[in-house]
Amino acid sequence: MRSLITGTGIGVPRHVVTNEALSRLMDTSDEWIRVRSGIQERRYADPGQGSTSLGVIAAGNAIADAGLKPGDIDSVIFATMTPDHVLPGNGPLLQVALGLRDIPTFDIRQQCSGFLYGLELADLFIQSGRYRRVLLVGAEVHTSFMPWHLGWDTLIGQSTREITEAERAENTASRDRTVLFGDGAGAVVIEGRDGVAGLGPIRLHTDGTGAGVLTMLGAGFKRRPFVTHEQIDAGETLPIMSGKEVFKSAVTLMPQAVREVCEVAGVAVESLDLVLVHQANLRIIEGVQKALGLPAGKVPHNIERYGNTTAATLPILFHECRQQGLVKPGMNLMFTALGSGLHWGAALYRT
Ligand code: UT7
Repeated sequence: MRSLITGTGIGVPRHVVTNEALSRLMDTSDEWIRVRSGIQERRYADPGQGSTSLGVIAAGNAIADAGLKPGDIDSVIFATMTPDHVLPGNGPLLQVALGLRDIPTFDIRQQCSGFLYGLELADLFIQSGRYRRVLLVGAEVHTSFMPWHLGWDTLIGQSTREITEAERAENTASRDRTVLFGDGAGAVVIEGRDGVAGLGPIRLHTDGTGAGVLTMLGAGFKRRPFVTHEQIDAGETLPIMSGKEVFKSAVTLMPQAVREVCEVAGVAVESLDLVLVHQANLRIIEGVQKALGLPAGKVPHNIERYGNTTAATLPILFHECRQQGLVKPGMNLMFTALGSGLHWGAALYRT
């Protein structure tokens, strides 16, 4: 029995925000963002549109693509670092919105590696015989991290006012992070099937000594109360990131994980047909491609249109590759990701 992805779907918000639009709010430029990250535009959710609602759209599309009805799903794994609420998680909210049965729903985090960790769980559920049809969703609304009261509403046509010089200076202080992220959701349906196609092997890693390189200090239960005006004013409800350190880890550890999985599977790296890399930065994606010695055509990307959507990048990319006819039967496809934790890993998928 193998864990086969039988359906995929995406849910991306309607507002397309270009680099040029961002440069009206802070000291940045289309050139800086393109050259440093490869991003040209990203999607922003409407105010009030959360990661559950984007996840519901993606999941509904994936279930239909698999030729199933919501009532056929027998467990849900929802990966997000931007849930609608602290509690409960997005799983039960998605259950109601989609009209799923009384089935278990698991909420997981793992940030940029959320989809990869979800694949591992889904595979274990199916291999154990516990569940047969798992819905795995990765969805994020990052815009809520961003200082919306500082003119961001003009980006989605909700205000026409000019921002002040003070607001511009404050927006510029977080420009190294805000320009990189976008909102979106991707989902897959995974079913147990006989045959050679399907998931595995998967190898996952965690190194908590790197927890500080990408973290958010505010709004945490170590503090009493867990969120205060002072934390918000100090910008502690926005993630902090040592960009260069994350970059170095990403271009080293993702190729290592891919090689590790290839070795376990007895598959030569050069015989991989497609490698889907977490979409955080085009230079990272190209770095992974070069470290593996693969031609650019085997490492597709869509970061230019979505930016970094954290747990959603891999399912969105996989869905778009299927749509573009890049995923053909009999391929060796590899998923790999790295993000806050640090969590990283790779998963082989035979199509
Ligand atoms: O999903 C996992 C999470 N994140 C990642 O994987 C991100 C990994 N890291 C990166 O992608 C890159 O490190 C960044 C894109 C974040 C930054 O690229 P960099 O080449 O490491 O740039 P830098 O941090 O060295 O900054 C270079 C300059 C600085 O100015 P000075 O000090 O040289 O005068 C920054 O202040 O660029 C400045 N800068 C900007 N300028 C215009 C930083 N952000 C911006 C911006 N627009 N948005």
